[in-house]
Amino acid sequence: MSYRPESDLVNQRPAWAALLADYEGLRGTALRELFATDPTRVERLTFDACGIVADLSKHRITPETISDLVALAEQSGLRAHIDAMFAGEHINTSEDRAVLHVALRAPTDEVITTDGVNVVPEVHEVLDRMSSFATAIRSGTWRGHTGRTISAVVNIGIGGSDLGPVMAYEALRFYSDRSLTMRFVSNVDSTDFVEATHDLDPESTLFIISSKTFTTLETMTNAHSARQWLLDSIGDDAAVARHFVAVSTNAEEVARFGIDTDNMFGFWDWVGGRYSMDSAIGLSTMIAIGPDNFREMLRGFHDMDEHFRTTPFDRNLPVLMGLLAVWYRNFFECQTMAVLPYSQYLKRFPAYLQQLTMESNGKHVTLEGADVEVDTGAVYWGEPGTNGQHSFYQLLHQGTTMVPVDFIGFAQTNNPLGDHHDILMSNVFAQAQALAFGRTAAEIEAEGVPASVVPHKVMPGNRPSTVLLSQLLTPYRLGTLVALYEHSVFTQGAIWGIDSFDQWGVELGKKLAQAIIPELTSSAEPTLSHDASTNSLINRYRAMKHR
Ligand code: F6P
Repeated sequence: MSYRPESDLVNQRPAWAALLADYEGLRGTALRELFATDPTRVERLTFDACGIVADLSKHRITPETISDLVALAEQSGLRAHIDAMFAGEHINTSEDRAVLHVALRAPTDEVITTDGVNVVPEVHEVLDRMSSFATAIRSGTWRGHTGRTISAVVNIGIGGSDLGPVMAYEALRFYSDRSLTMRFVSNVDSTDFVEATHDLDPESTLFIISSKTFTTLETMTNAHSARQWLLDSIGDDAAVARHFVAVSTNAEEVARFGIDTDNMFGFWDWVGGRYSMDSAIGLSTMIAIGPDNFREMLRGFHDMDEHFRTTPFDRNLPVLMGLLAVWYRNFFECQTMAVLPYSQYLKRFPAYLQQLTMESNGKHVTLEGADVEVDTGAVYWGEPGTNGQHSFYQLLHQGTTMVPVDFIGFAQTNNPLGDHHDILMSNVFAQAQALAFGRTAAEIEAEGVPASVVPHKVMPGNRPSTVLLSQLLTPYRLGTLVALYEHSVFTQGAIWGIDSFDQWGVELGKKLAQAIIPELTSSAEPTLSHDASTNSLINRYRAMKHR
C-alpha cells in the first residue's frame, strides 16, 4: 500500500527514539519551570483553526517536542495517508472500503472519486431530498395518515445512528423548531421506547428508522415495536407509509420492513457509522434545525477538512491534537483522556466522542495484522462543566493518575443571563490554571495552614490540558469541532498504523447474544453448552422468570 511507511512499527521509527529522549527530559520538569524559562511559550504554542483558538501551552511539551512529534507523523506516512483518504482509496483495509466522510460535506463543485465514481453529486442529491422532506415536515405539508401535521419526530437507531443525531440535536437545540418534539430511542431495553413515546400521539408522530445495515438487533426490535404502537392506535397498515421513513444503505431490508423505498434516504458503505452524523443519518438534525442550518454545519465540517488537508503539520490543529494524544498515551502512559465542554448544549458531546475515538482506535493489530506493540486508543470520558467540578475533578487535581483534559468554551452564550456566562468561563480558565500550576506546600504554609493539613492541600499541578476557545456554539462551529476530533482520531490511527474504520470487536458479543436469545425464551429446557458461568446465569434467569 503506497500510503503506508515501509514495514516498520511505530516504535522503530527514528522520531520515536527522539521522543523517548524528550520524555526523559520532560517527565521531571514542571510546567511552572517551562513557563518561567520561555516567555514566548504561550505565543508559540497557541494555534488557530477555522476560528477555534487552541492553547496548547499547558501541555508537558516544548516546541522541540512538537517538532519531534511532527517528525513521527512524517515518518509514519501521515501525509500519504491523508491524501489516500481524500483520493477515495480503500484505506479501511479489513473491510476493503474507502473512507469518505469528507465527501459528505464537499461543496457541489468539488470532485471526490472512489472506484472511478465522483460521489459528490450523489451526496448532494440526497441532501436535496432530505431538505425537501425536512421542509415538508416543518411546514406541515407532510401530514400523517389521518391528516394531522407531524408534531413529534422519533429517531430510532443505535451507535453512530443515534449518538451523532442526539448530540447534534442537543448541541443545536437553540436553533431548533421548538414546536417539534424530538425524541431518540436506542436501547433495546423496552423502557427506552415506552418512555420516549408515552406522551406522544401516534397520529402526529413520525419515526425515522436509522440504520446503516438495517439489520441491527436493537434498532429492528424498536422499529417493530414502533410499527405495532402505531397500528394499535390507527389500525391501518397503509399508515406506515406516512409515519415511517428510513435512513439506510440497505434498500432491500428497508422494503422488507414495509417502508416504501421512496421514503428512504440513502448513504454509502464508505461512510462509517461513527462518521455519519452529517449524512442522511442527520435527517432528524435537519428536521430540527432546518436545511439552511444543516448546510452551515456542513460548511464548518468542510472548512476543518480543508484545514486538515492543506495546513503544514506543525500548525495543523487536528494533527497536533492527535499527536498529543499519542504523546500522552505512549510516553506518559495515560490511560484516559477527559473532554470537558463548558456548554450545557454539549452535554452529549463526550458520549459521542466515546464511540468516535474508542470504536476507531481501540485496536491491537496493525493494518497488516501484526501486533501493534504499543498502546493504542485511550478511554475517553467527560461531562459538562461546571457539574464535573463538583464530582470527579478532585481526582484530576490530586489523584495519582494523570488525565489529560480538553476544555471547550465559548466567548458568548446563546442564552445571556446576568453574569452566568462570565462565571462559567472563569471556571474554564481557573481549572486549567489549577491543573497546570497547582499549589506548593510553601504557598500553603504561607497562608498559616496547620502543618498536619498542608500535605492534604498540596496541588501537585503539572497536569496537562488544552483549552479550545471560540466565539459561539453555532451549527458552523459544531461542524468544525466534530471534524477536529474526527481528524485527530485519524492522525492517531495513522501513527499507530491501525485500521481506525473497522469495528470487529463488537461482533462477537452480538453473535453470542443471538445464540442465547432462544435459550432464554424457549418453554422447553434448553441444552446449554456455554462455559459454566454463562450456563449458570441462564439457568438462574430462567428460574427467576419461572421458565
Ligand atoms: O456497534 C457496532 C455498530 O456497527 C456501530 O459501528 C454502528 O454505528 C452501530 O453498530 C449501528 O449500526 P447500524 O447503523 O447498521 O444499525
